[in-house]
Amino acid sequence: MKKILTQELLLSLTADKPSISPKFFYDAIGSHLFDVITLLEEYYPTRTEKWIMDAYQRDIADAVDDCDVLLDLGAGNCAKASRLFDAIEPKQYWALDISKEYLEAAVADLQKQFPHIEMSAHALDLSLPLSFPDLQKLRKIFFFPGSSIGNYDPEKADQFFANIAYECHGNGGLLIGVDLVKDDETLHLAYNDPLGVTAAFNLNALLNVNRLIGSNFNLQDWEHYAFFNASKSRIEMHLRALTDVEVVLPGNGTQDHLISFNAGDLIHTENSYKYTQERFVEKLRRAGFDDIHCWTDPSDYFLVCFANANKPS
Ligand SMILES: C[S@@+](CC[C@H](N)C(=O)[O-])C[C@H]1O[C@@H](n2cnc3c(N)ncnc32)[C@H](O)[C@@H]1O
Repeated sequence: MKKILTQELLLSLTADKPSISPKFFYDAIGSHLFDVITLLEEYYPTRTEKWIMDAYQRDIADAVDDCDVLLDLGAGNCAKASRLFDAIEPKQYWALDISKEYLEAAVADLQKQFPHIEMSAHALDLSLPLSFPDLQKLRKIFFFPGSSIGNYDPEKADQFFANIAYECHGNGGLLIGVDLVKDDETLHLAYNDPLGVTAAFNLNALLNVNRLIGSNFNLQDWEHYAFFNASKSRIEMHLRALTDVEVVLPGNGTQDHLISFNAGDLIHTENSYKYTQERFVEKLRRAGFDDIHCWTDPSDYFLVCFANANKPS
């Protein structure tokens, strides 16, 4: 595993535009930091999505209809899914996330609160193709909140939707939350909170990489840098080198890899695409969903959709 991750990071860090995948944000510290971000005044997405899900709980449950299995993709603390349990009444709950320890603790806690729902925690990487052969005959509802879809480049999002639509086998759908385009200042502040929690979350990716592959990134050499790229309709998060930096990625039995950065160089850590409702619904349709229901908040900050999967042809 260490070798595969080292190869992946070596490739992405030595590319023309160096990057670290956003999945590296999420170790136990990153998951907790994300939870703190959701409490910040400036970070509107979580409270707005919760508001929509509470305000339209009945309509969401009617649209979803029966639910044999609720699959929570990037479940985190599982709080959003659990708010829907009483309305949707899933028979099974599958929580999927890359942050293993954090996920397992959250599911164990939730199982005590909802003993009648069969629950399981699955530590896996959602950026790989998903397949659920054991659940083929069941009505599956995929839940993808938190605007995590915004982290996918538009083409990757199309592939992801097509994968989910196929996995429903004509019996199920996707309940998804996505962040909408809005004024630059609101967007900027949401990713540049004055307390510096988002900065810590971003920098923690370097500590997680160090822990996973034994590299020697030094936090003092890097700063958080996030801005709204209007032409691409996305927030970009980067880490910017404060000085010239040399980082060693251990070779695991082969030669170590030395990567050099100059002061001012960037490592791209996350995109967070912002959609219009029309564009987002069109993407879902193209991927094989139909009968799409949409709910927003009064400021049109955030969108929750339920989309029924068509039968694969
Ligand atoms: C933005 S948070 C959303 C958490 C929660 N669903 C919510 O809406 O509050 C993204 C979640 O996806 C998980 N995640 C990120 N990349 C992942 C990947 N490649 N595979 C699996 N889980 C991933 C993170 O650990 C985190 O819990």
